[in-house]
Amino acid sequence: MKTVLLTVDKKVDKEKIYAQAVDILNQGEVVAFPTETVYGLGAVATNEEAVKKIYKAKGRPSDNPLIVHIGTMEEVPNYVEEIPENAKKLMERFWPGPLTLIMKAKRGVLATSVTAGLSTVGIRMPDHEVALELLRALKKPLAAPSANRSGKPSPTKAAHVYEDLKGRIPLILDGGTTGIGIESTVLDVTVNPPVILRPGGITKEMLEDEIGEVLEPTPKEQELESTPKAPGMKYTHYAPEAPVYLIEKNHEKIEQTIAKLKKEGHRVALLAPSNYSATSADYFFPFGDEEDQKQMAAKLYDSLRACDKTDATIILATTTSSEGVGAAIMNRLFKAAGGKFIEVPGTE
Ligand code: TXA
Ligand code: MG
Repeated sequence: MKTVLLTVDKKVDKEKIYAQAVDILNQGEVVAFPTETVYGLGAVATNEEAVKKIYKAKGRPSDNPLIVHIGTMEEVPNYVEEIPENAKKLMERFWPGPLTLIMKAKRGVLATSVTAGLSTVGIRMPDHEVALELLRALKKPLAAPSANRSGKPSPTKAAHVYEDLKGRIPLILDGGTTGIGIESTVLDVTVNPPVILRPGGITKEMLEDEIGEVLEPTPKEQELESTPKAPGMKYTHYAPEAPVYLIEKNHEKIEQTIAKLKKEGHRVALLAPSNYSATSADYFFPFGDEEDQKQMAAKLYDSLRACDKTDATIILATTTSSEGVGAAIMNRLFKAAGGKFIEVPGTE
């Protein structure tokens, strides 16, 4: 299959591009498109055959449900049994935006593989002109996971999608680099208090400001749960080829560790905030100013992908504060590292 990449910007005939994308989607094919978080790989959420193509193109395990993207608030009651009061408030406040709400699904409306057999469905309205215009032209919901090969870091640029899915999907809409850079917050509002299943750009503090208490299990607590509530969170994820290890941000310890690894024959890549001073690492990927968590989030996946372009045999990533958006950054780094910390020389 040939993969076409079309740039959607103000100069070109946008309507024509959307019409082409809508045609392809209505034929039961998949299309990649930008959202404010990461690029998504969309298929009409009511078309079972089309949704199956998403799993196939990504190599995604079939027990991992997809988020349904909508273009207007009015559609929500078509897909869910009821909209809890909390959810109404959050929709008003944060949609369009990076918040996915898990609600009870109406039976028999969406393709069964969207929900991967669960009785609930995750819904969100993306805050990106291209995504919204596409949804509104299509007038149907789009099931869309992140548009990466399963296990890889999510794509924040059309070029990342092309790298991962070239030859496997017919069309990519290029809307530039995505602004937020990590996936939406997933919040289960079927329970009280609601539970954050995946931290993201809308933080616990922001949610609590609107609806009061919200629970946010730590990565360790999530691991201990026998049946993860967001099935996707149980897989090693967001990971480049070389193994990733977490390390505390302490210059001396990091440099000692790098020296030891190099002696063992490793080529070391270091992922740390841009203000990290001189390093003996073979590759250094600064991922934003430590004082600016939003910038760190926006650069994280690009940095992880950049590691794959090197011959590094090991990647060290520094930990950061878990406050605010830091919770989402640490969640993704923890997954990329499979929870592993590197052993620092001189400590046991
Ligand atoms: O920002 C985003 O959310 C991006 C863009 C494209 O919208 N999408 C995205 O989708 O990250 P995906 O499929 O990569 O991640 C969806 C997450 C997974 O962890 C999945 O298990 C969880 O949401 N999820 C989806 N439906 C669920 C449900 N009914 N119950 C619990 N978790 C659900
Ligand atoms: Mg994903």
